[in-house]
This record gives sequence, C-alpha cells and structure tokens, in this order.
Amino acid sequence: MTRRMSASPLLLGIDIGTTGAKVVLVDGRDANAIAHRLVEYPLHMPRPNWCEQDPEDWWRAVAAAVRAVMEAERIEAGRVAGIGLSGQMHGLVALDTAGGVIRPAILWNDQRTADQCEEITRAVGAERLIQLTGNIALTGFTAPKILWMREHEADAYARIESILLPKDYIRFRLSGERFTDASDASGTLLLDVAQRDWSGAMLEALDIPRAWLAPVTESDAASTRLGAAAARELGLLEGTPIAAGAGDQAAQAVGSGIVDEGTVCVTIGTSGVVFAPMHTYRPEPQGRLHCFCHAVPGMWHLMGVMLSAGGSLRWLRDLLGDEFNEHACYLGRDPYEILTNEAGRIAPGAGGLVFLPYLTGERTPHNDPNARGVFFGLSLEHRRPHLARAVLEGITFGLCDGLDLLRESGVRAREIRVSGGGARSAVWRQMMADIFGEAVTACDSPHGAAMGAALLAGAASGVFRDVRSASRMVRTGVQRTEPGAAAEVYPDLRARYRALYPALRDEFACTRAAD
Ligand code: XUL
Repeated sequence: MTRRMSASPLLLGIDIGTTGAKVVLVDGRDANAIAHRLVEYPLHMPRPNWCEQDPEDWWRAVAAAVRAVMEAERIEAGRVAGIGLSGQMHGLVALDTAGGVIRPAILWNDQRTADQCEEITRAVGAERLIQLTGNIALTGFTAPKILWMREHEADAYARIESILLPKDYIRFRLSGERFTDASDASGTLLLDVAQRDWSGAMLEALDIPRAWLAPVTESDAASTRLGAAAARELGLLEGTPIAAGAGDQAAQAVGSGIVDEGTVCVTIGTSGVVFAPMHTYRPEPQGRLHCFCHAVPGMWHLMGVMLSAGGSLRWLRDLLGDEFNEHACYLGRDPYEILTNEAGRIAPGAGGLVFLPYLTGERTPHNDPNARGVFFGLSLEHRRPHLARAVLEGITFGLCDGLDLLRESGVRAREIRVSGGGARSAVWRQMMADIFGEAVTACDSPHGAAMGAALLAGAASGVFRDVRSASRMVRTGVQRTEPGAAAEVYPDLRARYRALYPALRDEFACTRAAD
C-alpha cells in the first residue's frame, strides 16, 4: 500500500559513516527531512593502529536503511527524484577485475602508514607535495594506504584493477559505475586540489596507474543512474539519478548551510572537525590544515581534523559497560545525555583531571600517529562525572587548537556554527563557547552529511537551482550560546592541557617502537 502525499519530489541522502549508514529522505519543496534511519555496522581493529570495515557491511546497511525509510513513510518509489552520496573520507576500497573487494577497507583513522608517509614526502619533496596537492602526507589519506598494500600485501596488490572511496563503492553497487567527486578525492593526496582533477605528477611519482582511479566530477553532477538489481533490492525505481555527492565533511557543511566565507563550522562526530569555506584556493603554507575542494563548485575549504572527538566519548560510554548503558536504557535516557549532564555538574577543570583525546593517534594539530589517550592527574576523589567532564574538555581543547590554526591562517569567522552529535548537548555548547572564547550557534540540521548528500541530489536532479541555494534553505542557527564566567578560567586550564603533549611526545614514540 502506498500513501499519496502531495506530489513534491523527494531526495534520498546516504552517508557511509564510521558507526553506520545514515539515510535521510528530504522533501524537495522545503529541504525538510521527513524520515531518517541509521543502521550500524562494526569497526574492526585487527591490530593496534589499524581500523578497517567490510564494504559489504556498508552495502547491507544502506539497503536496510533505504528500505526502512521508504516503508516507514510508505513512499512511492517514483517520488524519489534523486539519490546523493556522502561518506567517511580517505578509506581505501581495492577492487579486482570482477569488481570484487580484495581486502577490508582501510579507514581514515587507521594509523599503519607512518613509514609510507615518510616515503611519499621523500619521493615528492615536502614543499612540492603542498604545491601539487595542497596538503602534506598524513597517515589517514588514501595514497599512503595504496603504498602500504604494495609493500605488505603484494599478492593482493597485484590483483587491484581499481580503487574507490567508501561512498563511491556504494555508487558502484548502486549503478555498476565508477565515479568520484572533487571534495572526496581531495583526501587521497592524489588530487591536484587547485585544478580539481587527478595530479599526473603525483601518480607518476608514486607509480600509481591512473586507470585505477574513477573520473572526478563536481559534487552536484548527475554522475550515473540506479541499476535494475540495486533498484529491486532497495525498493526504488531503476534509472533514478545519482549525484556525485561529497566527502562527509563537505557534505556536512552543505547540510548545515556552510557555503560562504566567514562562517566556520565545528562538527563533532566520531572525528572532530573545524571547517572554513573559501572562495579561492589558499592552502596553509605548511600544510598544518587540510586544503580540500568544497562540494560547492568553484569553492575550497581549510579543515582541521581530530581523530577521536565523539569517538572519545563513545569510548568512555563503552568503558562504563553494559550496566551503565542498560540502566540508561531502563530510565529511557540516552547514555551520552547522562554523561554530558553529569559533566555539567562539575566545575571547569574536572577537579584537576586532564584528558588527551588521542585514542587513535592525532591529526590536527600534532600530526602524530603515535600519540595516545591520557588521563592525567587521576586521584581517589575522581568519579564518573569528573571523567566525563575531562573527556569533554579534552575534546573541546583539541577543537580549539584547530580553530587557532584557522585563525593563524587568516580565517576570520563572523560565526562559529556547531553541529554533529556533540552540538545537541547544552552543556557541551556552553563549554565550547567558554573554551573558544566566542559565541557558538547550534545548527539544528541533525542529519548533517546525509542531508548535504540529499541537497546535492536535489541540485543534480534540477529540484534545486544549485548547491548554494539548496544549502541556504536548511534551517539553522536557532540557539546561540555566549561565553560565560568559565571563559575566564579556561585559558589557564588549556595551557595545562597543551603542555602535556610536548612532554609526552617522545614517550608515545617509544611505546610505538615497542609495539
Ligand atoms: C576528514 C576525516 C574524517 C572522516 C570521517 O578528513 O578524516 O572526518 O571523513 O568522518
């Protein structure tokens, strides 16, 4: 049975996140989400420093989530005017000649490639690397992962016929076609980010065949159409247009109205991101921030990424065990809400407890795959709320390090917009305003990257005029939080936090060497 609603076109946004596939169904008249679903999948850490996922899990989750939103709202398949894709960036999906996945995908937060990053920097030259790609070699990026496969899994490497990023693998399953977009391709270290196309010089220097790479388009291009088998599996119509889409951070920005210079976005998901759109290509001269193509054609952005932001809070939640989580469930409350509210009852500084959120190494600001998480200053009086407060403060100090780098590179923010799971907590928003020393505006677009993907689908299928006007339709900015009294004490507390990493850096390196 199908329910006839008004005949407005609908857009399906799909985000291949780290915890699960999120699907949102958006009304093309007003860019409002009418249904959404998250289907989770596991993250595998087969060795310290490694993070992998099975692309088949992504596909199963996408199929389940799409069917769930379509069935929940009893939507006629013909109303879906377009599909948009977004996903975790940088992940390596290696395919053989039959299109089969050769090995589990190596993810953005995997840290195994420190040696390959050094090799790339030596081979290309540090300055030239920034000239060619706008970026430095970082362990999370895709190119070092390809080199790692070449050096450690020669048989598997010999079978590679093409490589895809996570969301582009889903496109491949949807359509049988290989395409990518400039924003996601920026995180491979193989893109000439200024020219928005693959860098011949990088491919040659690293001896990576161009034929392995999918053509690059802008995010709002109608890349391909839904194939018959996938249409049956998802309950959609064959031939539905699929937009090129974007890496999750650029898509998140589109879904949160961040499409003009002057607004900086802070997003707390598994990673923690500071993001500043730019109308011109202006890489950070030392590569301390990523410089990537935006999902808005002709725009770029600077970005700082913490690897374990929300991921650190999830770690604490999991550490507290089934008893805590089941009790929360029994009370009908979200365990994260319990933790953030408890943190809110503790004074700034968490009773002298400091947390370094480097559970999977760190990208911005340290670029150190060896860094590890630390609770510093534990004593007998510390209880769960102190741990929760220290974790929130550590994450927020880390984000502030990224904001400082943006400021140093000349970004002037009229507004700091906060989004992602972390922005939902009033306690955390207040902490951000206090630590950043500036007001923050909470973005009330809870579907972030999936919403951005749906808007890109709308732009690609002609439902919206273009990406920017679609993005401006998103309702944002209802809750503004000003710095409070705690803003006075945080500079000293942050100085303590910042002193810890330099004091421990060599210890982290020794621990890795001993692994
Ligand atoms: C961006 C990054 C992460 C992932 C996962 O550079 O590594 O934000 O995209 O969300």
